[in-house]
Amino acid sequence: MGRDAKNLCLLGSTGSIGWTTLRVVRAHPGRFKPLVLAARSRGDVLLEQAKEFKPKTCVLTDQDAVIKYCGDFNALGIEILAEADSLPAVAAHKEVDSVVCAMSGVAGLAPMESAIRAGKEILFANKEALVVGGEYIMRLVRDSGVRFLPIDSEHSAIYQCLLAGRRGEVSSITLTASGGPFLHSSPDQMSSVTKEQVMAHPTWEMGPEVTVNSATMMNKALEVIEAHFLFGLPPEKIRVVIHPQSIVHGLVEFTDGSVLAQLSRPDMALAVQYALTAPERLAGVVEALDLAAIGTLEFLEPDEQRFPLLRLSYEALGGEWWEPVALNAINETLVRAFLADQIDFEALLKLIADCFGRRNEITGEWSPSAKEPECLDDILQADTAFRNFALSSIKRHGLRGAE
Ligand SMILES: NC(=O)c1ccc[n+]([C@@H]2O[C@H](COP(=O)([O-])OP(=O)(O)OC[C@H]3O[C@@H](n4cnc5c(N)ncnc54)[C@H](OP(=O)(O)O)[C@@H]3O)[C@@H](O)[C@H]2O)c1
Repeated sequence: MGRDAKNLCLLGSTGSIGWTTLRVVRAHPGRFKPLVLAARSRGDVLLEQAKEFKPKTCVLTDQDAVIKYCGDFNALGIEILAEADSLPAVAAHKEVDSVVCAMSGVAGLAPMESAIRAGKEILFANKEALVVGGEYIMRLVRDSGVRFLPIDSEHSAIYQCLLAGRRGEVSSITLTASGGPFLHSSPDQMSSVTKEQVMAHPTWEMGPEVTVNSATMMNKALEVIEAHFLFGLPPEKIRVVIHPQSIVHGLVEFTDGSVLAQLSRPDMALAVQYALTAPERLAGVVEALDLAAIGTLEFLEPDEQRFPLLRLSYEALGGEWWEPVALNAINETLVRAFLADQIDFEALLKLIADCFGRRNEITGEWSPSAKEPECLDDILQADTAFRNFALSSIKRHGLRGAE
């Protein structure tokens, strides 16, 4: 391993982005050293990665998985840590240079905060952490001066296009959305889709939660919030356009009317690699784009009837700091219920909208406050409250198959 290898802590290594990151690492021997690999419960996959990449430390936050696999990791001479509390510690480890935040969900927020406080470079795919952490996280980023680069392909595109002009000269940014599997379905057809149809994304291969979010368009709703915090732009300057081919990932319009876009094949390896090496560009991981072979690039206005959840992001951004937290917690909870076959797709869409619409009715130990969060716990308390709120809405609605 060369002396200049960048030491990585890869949170969520067993997932789709985690594997893509390791593909980039593999493509550039000596450039990156995965020092820490962390996951939740898929110990067999983590072990396979550990054998190839020989990290110093691995983390499995699921206790049963650690008990099952700790002997195998020990036999390889690799330290294995358990419990969610290990994540903030490994992300802040003194030998780590960059933390790749590739976990799904709000569980990635605490390690992200810890890594920023420890002055690490942050390369993040984990949009939920920024949606929920919001201005609190961006303030920490500014105060600590760390590099904070997006991996999400749309935000990577916008980041790259913004380099062409001054921030004050930006009129708007546009995030593209593939439209997912139901782009051409009528609202009626969407009420009876199967789980298999939901999980069959036409252009991207992703983890289960983000695949469901793409079908409901909540993925794009979260990305609008992510873009607002990351680029410091008001919601009215953030647009979404449907682009089924997923070739143009993001566009920036400047005040002179010039529009810059970033194009590439739909392969997350490019965005991961750019985050790892920016501003340097390395050849290698992604096939060249052949526009003539693609032929047609389409752009359509998102249909509000078909994708009613998209506007919830603008509603959340028009409110108090806790409203994006509420939207994400409600969505995460209900998506997990859908993945566990507790509710169907129609109920998922309905309950997300209903629950978020009733967000001001929340009662219990936590109550809405306009006071900005002062610590992570202030955010996590709101998150827990809205998870419980969403769980009770499932109970009221009735579990699938229950009498
Ligand atoms: N996939 C894409 O193309 C794509 C594109 C842009 C942005 N993103 C974003 O990137 C993030 C990851 O997406 P993905 O598609 O890679 O998801 P994924 O395939 O479901 O992988 C999630 C990873 O996070 C780990 N994880 C989840 N909860 C954890 C916890 N509580 N503690 C420790 N590890 C935990 C999982 O471990 P186990 O395997 O052990 O469960 C897995 O390694 C999401 O925020 C997503 O929105 C994804």
